[in-house]
Amino acid sequence: MNQSNAHQSNGLQRVFEYHQATKHQFQAYASGPGYLDWANQPDPFRRYAGARLIPLDAIEPTDEPRYDDIFISERMPAPGAVNGQTISQLFYHSLALSAWKSTGETRWALRVNASSGNLHPTEGYLICGPVKGLCDQPMVCHYAPRVHGLEVLAEFDTELWNTLCSPFPEHTFFIGLTSIHWREAWKYGQRAYRYCMHDVGHALGAISMAAGGLGWRTHLLDDLGSDELALLMGTFRDHDAEREEPDVLMACVPAELATQETSLPAASVLSFESLAWQGSPNQLSPSHLDWGMDDITQQVSKPRAACQYRSVKNPPLSWPLPSRPVSLSRVIRKRRSAVAMDGQTRLSRDAFYRILHRTLAVPGAPPFITLPWKSHIHLALFVHRVDDIPQGLYLLVRDPAQTDALQQALTQANPWHKPPGCPQQLPLYCLIEAETQAAARQISCHQDIASDGCFSLAMLAEYTEPLQEYGPWFYPRLYWEAGMIGQLLYLEAEAAGIRSTGIGCFFDDPMHEVLGLEGRKFQDLYHFTVGGPVEDTRLTTLPAYPLELS
Ligand SMILES: Cc1cc2nc3c(=O)[nH]c(=O)nc-3n(C[C@H](O)[C@H](O)[C@H](O)COP(=O)(O)O)c2cc1C
Repeated sequence: MNQSNAHQSNGLQRVFEYHQATKHQFQAYASGPGYLDWANQPDPFRRYAGARLIPLDAIEPTDEPRYDDIFISERMPAPGAVNGQTISQLFYHSLALSAWKSTGETRWALRVNASSGNLHPTEGYLICGPVKGLCDQPMVCHYAPRVHGLEVLAEFDTELWNTLCSPFPEHTFFIGLTSIHWREAWKYGQRAYRYCMHDVGHALGAISMAAGGLGWRTHLLDDLGSDELALLMGTFRDHDAEREEPDVLMACVPAELATQETSLPAASVLSFESLAWQGSPNQLSPSHLDWGMDDITQQVSKPRAACQYRSVKNPPLSWPLPSRPVSLSRVIRKRRSAVAMDGQTRLSRDAFYRILHRTLAVPGAPPFITLPWKSHIHLALFVHRVDDIPQGLYLLVRDPAQTDALQQALTQANPWHKPPGCPQQLPLYCLIEAETQAAARQISCHQDIASDGCFSLAMLAEYTEPLQEYGPWFYPRLYWEAGMIGQLLYLEAEAAGIRSTGIGCFFDDPMHEVLGLEGRKFQDLYHFTVGGPVEDTRLTTLPAYPLELS
């Protein structure tokens, strides 16, 4: 074994250990603080003191485009010009505040992108050339959701911009994401890294959907290494505030010019180190506990390398789905987690199949067009209240090439069969017909939301094979895919007039036992529930921004 293989194998071992150690078991939850240390509650808003703020406009909701239209290339909106207004819209429909909630003296903000515990570890960045109505010079900015504005961290010359984006079509710009792990670790301890990566997936999904509404497409620049990402977003700089770990950069391109280019010229990236960086990040908590975030981050750090991902053999196909008169912008901004499900609302079979269909990576459609790898996540569904479908445990195979492997692995399943009326294009199978509400609730940390909806689900990831094939750095990417499915499920539920909720608290190995899964070939990474919500009438809802247009 050469040195680099030995390094990778050691890193993989550490990732496997982290994953195992952060499983919740019936007998014990993964280690965490066990209480909320309010004196150290992290500030949910990172701000850069001394950086110039470019305020962005609030965006009026519109009936067009319809939510359903952005998934179909013939119906998606024509690409919008890149200008101050459309850049504002992109952020307003992806990472902005969506409302303030209050009860008594307490007030907290909700956002367009969901986040575990509403802690929002994900920060957004924009790297762009001169943009009409926004800036005359190329720049790197941090997005400040509290005020819906851009904080200018560095400006640079047009020559550097031109070489940086020379491999990309005209009108391309870049959006980056970082995570402040401490925000989640403060509440969830060691398991927090997983939640941060789910949240990156939610943010990627939110950005891809918002871009779809503007006729743009997003895709990851996954050749970049972690150190290069830190240079591009300026998080390499020394400061005393909490660390921001760079996660990813994506290109945003008009759909008609979409390219799969994944590289930025290495020399241009290096020159970001010597830009005149502005602004000092604020400290979020007075003191901190170490929950091992730096260690797992180091293990999954990505080197620069051209990513040669396996391509999908038989991409999923679509079938004609009527376009509903549902506005994309309203669905996006009204998305909320259900805090309780009513235990009564039923979903029609067609609506159920439509939601599941949308979770497939149909070529060209957001949000999954963003991810350069084939789907690695499959859905094990607890069906509780769907008309004309027996209650039971079902499986949606998001990459049909995995059907045999899953059939062998899920040893508790009866012979698989397609449920009644299931479109041929939907790789959905019934594994066991049974009442599964109690099991769903128990497995999701005894949370009623998992049993009282129309259905809940576990996201089963192909685990050892992609990690061995690509390396430890692929571990967070499995969570990004899971989070992206989650963000899509939120929007699908909203478009169907119901609600959903992400469930990060679940018992990992007991869920594997329900399915008869042994070993590490597949692992459960995330749960979700979809159903009729019960509103919490004790809370007051206030607009996200003083001038919000409703
Ligand atoms: C990764 C992730 C895990 C979550 N886990 C749970 C959970 O176990 N139980 C729960 O009630 N809500 C859970 N949620 C929902 C969040 O608490 C919710 O997104 C957050 O409070 C913000 O509210 P909003 O989604 O309405 O914006 C989770 C959300 C995410 C994104």
